[in-house]
Amino acid sequence: MTNIHQYDVVVVGGGGAGLMAAMYASQRAKTAVISKLYPVRSHTGAAQGGIGAALGNLEEDSPEWHTFDTVKGSDYLGDQDAIEFMCHEAVQAVYDLEHMGLPFSRTADGRIAQRPFGGHTNNVTKKPVRRACYASDRTGHMILQTLYQQCIKNNILFYDEFQAMDLLLVDGKVAGVVAVELATGELHVFHAKAVIFATGGHGRIWEITSNAYAYTGDGCAIVARRGIPLEDMEFFQFHPTGIYKLGILITEAVRGEGGILFNKKGERFMERYAPTIKDLASRDVISRAMYLETRAGNDVNGQRFFYLDVTPETVNKYAEIDGRTRPDGTPYRVTAQEILSKIPDIADFCQTYLGIDPTRQPIPVQPTAHYAMGGIPTNIMGQVVIDEQNTVLPGLYAAGEVACVSVHGANRLGTNSLVDLIVFGKHSGIHAAEFALGADFVPLPADPTEYVREQISRLHAGSGKEKAAAIAREMKAEMFDHVGVFRTQEGLEHAIQKIRELQERFKDVRVTDSGKIFNMELLQTWELGNMLDLALVTAQSALARTESRGGHARDDYPARDDVNWLKHTLAWMDRDQIRLGYKPVVITKYPPKERTY
Ligand code: FUM
Repeated sequence: MTNIHQYDVVVVGGGGAGLMAAMYASQRAKTAVISKLYPVRSHTGAAQGGIGAALGNLEEDSPEWHTFDTVKGSDYLGDQDAIEFMCHEAVQAVYDLEHMGLPFSRTADGRIAQRPFGGHTNNVTKKPVRRACYASDRTGHMILQTLYQQCIKNNILFYDEFQAMDLLLVDGKVAGVVAVELATGELHVFHAKAVIFATGGHGRIWEITSNAYAYTGDGCAIVARRGIPLEDMEFFQFHPTGIYKLGILITEAVRGEGGILFNKKGERFMERYAPTIKDLASRDVISRAMYLETRAGNDVNGQRFFYLDVTPETVNKYAEIDGRTRPDGTPYRVTAQEILSKIPDIADFCQTYLGIDPTRQPIPVQPTAHYAMGGIPTNIMGQVVIDEQNTVLPGLYAAGEVACVSVHGANRLGTNSLVDLIVFGKHSGIHAAEFALGADFVPLPADPTEYVREQISRLHAGSGKEKAAAIAREMKAEMFDHVGVFRTQEGLEHAIQKIRELQERFKDVRVTDSGKIFNMELLQTWELGNMLDLALVTAQSALARTESRGGHARDDYPARDDVNWLKHTLAWMDRDQIRLGYKPVVITKYPPKERTY
């Protein structure tokens, strides 16, 4: 049975970007949110350390410094007009969150507290600046709760545990989306004038990841199957401090509060890779340093991990060496209690997963797949653009991690994911409502659920020779080994061949559960198909890019090549082929320079 609903604006995804978009769209247009999870379980809740905004509450700062740091952090691949827009909007966005009731941590005089984070600097002294506004180490969680409460207050309609599976386009115009209701297995057609995808990232295609189980790239896969290109998919960020073997995030705020990384010799190795900013260099720089240390045999026990030490003795020793001071100019010295008050969730994770107290013992960490810089191409209003000329597809929007505006370019600075989803979630909501008010509904196709039914039937009709879990395991290992922090032509070709083989084998997977109620086997198998598609797009885009930039480091092409590669990749999925195109990067004030930290 198919149910048909009609809304001016449908938001797909109930994380930070989706909730922001819904809040703003619903002020003017009939809006609904469909989400595969209960919204407060969305992955935004995993963002820990802070949201960047140049409030200057503790020391001098400016949105222009934030802009420059973001451009530099992006390894000059970010579009500078979009970055400038985001960093200037960030300040009001944080005050808006405060006014909505977000319980930020506070300074002694009651203002929003701020801490240092990787790559955020005083542009004059080049030293770390306190720019990350935080709510303890639960900033994303608090954003999610605050926005959800606002949405409920504003009577926004939620379709929770509805999995979107298709975007309806008729003659190149948006007509809506098709979703399956997980509790019943029924298909629902959401007839809409505007659709906003806010479905998050796809870190689950890698073996070690900080990403939630739900991060399977559904939004990117859905639109790519409808002929929309994906931008800069080769750029995926590895966060340097995931819990060893598990990948669970240990926030960069641990280093912001004074934590230091050590190799097996007890050396503070970041001194050699980023002499000025050391442990607070950008994430790509630190993750690469860890790999280079591993190659040099400096990883702990030869097991590819390092120690992150936030014990008061170590923090105080290195604060003295670095001459670190508090905002009032007194020496920066901490107690175990102070550390625990700044990172209580991290202390819990360490206890739960490692059985250690981080104020007494160092934390074993390794790089973990964390964030997709690439995604569905958009402009700053969240409108999806579909070619090298940035032609807008009317009525289609994307915001948050699923989108590529591009403000993160080749590498995202910590805290900028939350800024991105607040700023561009808001503007996509405003713009989508505006669009919907001036547009008519595009008539639905004759059989709107045909493609979804076809996909579901195929998953039930496989021979059963192959198991989805085995294919997923092999894909994740291949991506981690060959499309990880360092890449080579040989490794990428290996990965492409392997993923193609896995895609063939995937055809022989059979979903055996024919039930309708919470058929998680069906959902997870469909998600695996999405991940395989995105793994292929990522590896193909990476193979073509013969340079190293930000999160894309080629051993065989170690230098950044601005002459040939200062451009964004666009990748179209043409049946089983990937077609690549390119479009220019927007440079306004900051011509590309060598990046040093
Ligand atoms: O390290 C962290 O707290 C992560 C934040 C982010 O990815 O921006």
